[in-house]
Amino acid sequence: MTATGTPGVLVRAEEPRQFAAIARVVEAAFGKRDEARLVAELRETGGYIPALALVAETGAEVVGHVMFTHVTLRGDRDRAVLALAPVAVRPGEQRAGIGKALIREGLRIADELGEPLVVVLGHPAYYPKFGFSSARAMGVRPPSDEMPDAAFMALPLRAYDKSYRGTVIYPPAFGV
Ligand SMILES: CC(C)(COP(=O)(O)OP(=O)(O)OC[C@H]1O[C@@H](n2cnc3c(N)ncnc32)[C@H](O)[C@@H]1OP(=O)(O)O)[C@@H](O)C(=O)NCCC(=O)NCCS
Repeated sequence: MTATGTPGVLVRAEEPRQFAAIARVVEAAFGKRDEARLVAELRETGGYIPALALVAETGAEVVGHVMFTHVTLRGDRDRAVLALAPVAVRPGEQRAGIGKALIREGLRIADELGEPLVVVLGHPAYYPKFGFSSARAMGVRPPSDEMPDAAFMALPLRAYDKSYRGTVIYPPAFGV
């Protein structure tokens, strides 16, 4: 459990008793159901890593959530890398450092677990502050050429080496 820069906010691994509250936060953050459904579906895939599905809590209340799941990097052979998605903070609590705390803690745990690489499809203005940069420049390609290069980013962790190259294959739940 980690205290964040936001007073009273703790980040820790999600528990099944929180799944309904998490779905409400994710739906409220995105303003639609798709991402909450994605979270539920990802829990049913082999890529789900309970230690890397994190909630931010104030008291007993869930105010944010992030998931890092295994996806396939198809190069000379298939290897697992992490995808960061989705991340959500309850609308009333946004811009208070909670999203940053969730992502930083996830990246710290991923590094400790010996994960080599994290990819994200997201806003090019948001993720570089965590160290993400162009995936393509690292030889890591998106599953579809329709994905804009600037939005497909990667972050190497300590276990990374330059052999991690290829095309990222997402499980069907992502719909990409
Ligand atoms: C994106 C989201 C998770 C960020 O969480 P948050 O708690 O509001 O973000 P933080 O307060 O930790 O902000 C971290 C940094 O990002 C910036 N930031 C926050 N929201 C931003 C946005 N929409 N666009 C650009 N920058 C943003 C903050 O200013 C802050 O910058 P700083 O470190 O230079 O001060 C949250 O706004 C959210 O749930 N949005 C709706 C769902 C979504 O779009 N998820 C991301 C796509 S998967």
